[in-house]
Amino acid sequence: MKTALITGASDGIGEQAAIALKDLGWQVAIIGRNKARTEAVARRLNAPHYLADFAKLSEVKALGAQLLRDFPRIDVLANNAGGMFSKQPLTEDGFEMTFQVNHLAHFLLTRMLMPTLITSRASVINTSSVAHKSIGLLFKLDDVAKPKHYSQHLAYGNAKLANILFTKELHRRYHAQGLNAAAFHPGVVASSFAKDTNSFMRLLYHTGLKRAPGVITPKEGAQTLVWLATNAPGVSWRSGGYYAKQRPAKTTRKAQDEALAKALWEMSEQLIAPYLEERTQ
Ligand SMILES: NC(=O)c1ccc[n+]([C@@H]2O[C@H](COP(=O)([O-])OP(=O)(O)OC[C@H]3O[C@@H](n4cnc5c(N)ncnc54)[C@H](OP(=O)(O)O)[C@@H]3O)[C@@H](O)[C@H]2O)c1
Repeated sequence: MKTALITGASDGIGEQAAIALKDLGWQVAIIGRNKARTEAVARRLNAPHYLADFAKLSEVKALGAQLLRDFPRIDVLANNAGGMFSKQPLTEDGFEMTFQVNHLAHFLLTRMLMPTLITSRASVINTSSVAHKSIGLLFKLDDVAKPKHYSQHLAYGNAKLANILFTKELHRRYHAQGLNAAAFHPGVVASSFAKDTNSFMRLLYHTGLKRAPGVITPKEGAQTLVWLATNAPGVSWRSGGYYAKQRPAKTTRKAQDEALAKALWEMSEQLIAPYLEERTQ
């Protein structure tokens, strides 16, 4: 039986991916933040569940340690939790909220799970967004973790660009050891996305506009994640790549910048170092 750990599985795309994989006979671990929602999905799927607020790296660290203990084999790690936030620009760890929840927390989780991911020859699937193209263009490494000029839209574009750069560098560093990685855009999905913002995006996702042509259901939005999870890397998809609608998709020049991917990795390593060090004490 194959095993998938899915973050952001308490709602939207992650929940639907968990349902689809469970229907295909997989073991799935439901990882969420909201207790009631996470427990409800887990109960419905008869699956184990885990709670962590990714705005608190101490909780991500505890989650990683628990998952390492509970899962000797991981076929898929779906780093899917995320979204756009405007109410609290900095986390308790002192990093920009969108950057931490979408990227840095998943970076820490993936780094902690790496021994098992490698022995399992796992796929790491990162939920990015087409927003990396439109509002990730101003990405500057020294301005993503603690931005001087905060904008929720820029922060979201930056974070989703970080998902793609992380994917590329994961591939470069670990593919030779058997790991595969992909990033994908799920589509414009009528989920709970943007519920915590005062952005115009809230209008699109939480009014009648969500029934506009081109806006898809969370079940449809989960399809590329499920496709990446269930199809063989190296055969159906290429590790290190970016996908949409179950095929390779175009990215920006910035998203293909190998030096930027390496620099983001090194910066992320430094930012999470205190959490990894504490673990070994
Ligand atoms: N919807 C779209 O059109 C769209 C387009 C492109 C990319 N995406 C990406 O798709 C992914 C899933 O979003 P969605 O559309 O399914 O939205 P959603 O329905 O709002 O689901 C978001 C998930 O992320 C979790 N999450 C949010 N903040 C968290 C935190 N601080 N700590 C831990 N978990 C947290 C939520 O957990 P709780 O419910 O337990 O709080 C929920 O399970 C996100 O990465 C998003 O950026 C969405």
